Amino acid sequence: MKKLFGVMGDPIAHSMSPVMHNDLFNYYGIDAAYVPFHVSKGSLEAAVKGLKAIRVAGFNVTVPYKTEIMAFLDDIDPLAKAIGAVNTVVNREGKLVGYNTDGRGFVRGLTDQLPTLTDKAVLMIGAGGAAKAIYFSLAEAGIKKLDIYNRTPAKATELKKSCPFPVKTEVFDRGMAEKRLADYDILIQTTMIGMAPHIEEAPLSLNGVKPGSFASDIIYNPLETKFLREASSAGANIQNGIEMFVYQGALAFEIWTGVFPDTERMKENVLKQLGGF
Ligand code: ATR
Repeated sequence: MKKLFGVMGDPIAHSMSPVMHNDLFNYYGIDAAYVPFHVSKGSLEAAVKGLKAIRVAGFNVTVPYKTEIMAFLDDIDPLAKAIGAVNTVVNREGKLVGYNTDGRGFVRGLTDQLPTLTDKAVLMIGAGGAAKAIYFSLAEAGIKKLDIYNRTPAKATELKKSCPFPVKTEVFDRGMAEKRLADYDILIQTTMIGMAPHIEEAPLSLNGVKPGSFASDIIYNPLETKFLREASSAGANIQNGIEMFVYQGALAFEIWTGVFPDTERMKENVLKQLGGF
């Protein structure tokens, strides 16, 4: 029987996940359909119960339900529990099990470009929800030095304290972060600063970036943020947010089907949806 998958959120109409996953199901000959579920405020519990009753095979969860969903699941992966957010749910013999593939997806996308991460010095910009998933996943992957610049330093310190994996972190304000930029092999921009329509904004100045270092932004609209443009001009290699989006989806697909999909195919598909070529 055809398996049902989907993504729940509010709003959800513009999600790129349905086209991306339906293409993969088709490509790998899996009899399944992936649809957007528009779940309005106050209807999350009913939606999850309904999906469970009709034996949904799995689903993604996006804004604003990644934390709230946790109360309605039967089991939660330890990393997702530590992060406090679930973006992927699988139905295992009637039990809904939650995972977080955002942070691990980011790390997987990064290791595709930089196979050895453990000896790298990283500066992460931001300390919100996306930053937490990335920080915990990098710590889980064994990064030795993972500093943070956040507008509100107390939030960065809190993030550091809440991490269940050992990692060396210093928290910097903007001035210190800009002064020390040349110390880092990898810069990771996790805030929404620079996202359309505010494309002329960047969280800090990148004049001091080390040539040959690597800069990653989780934003994919625009494909090249001011942060990435400046990093590139200063001689860094750059990566946009399509990587994280594609790899979180690839890890979800693997959890559901056991197949780790062709990420190049996924990237092309997402770029097409964004009108990138
Ligand atoms: P998300 O879940 O998308 O990561 P969030 O949890 O609201 O969103 O986190 C937003 C991040 O962007 C935070 O690091 C926030 O900094 P503060 O902790 O100081 O609020 C950062 N951020 C958002 N708008 C900002 C701005 N205009 N200038 C600097 N930092 C900003």
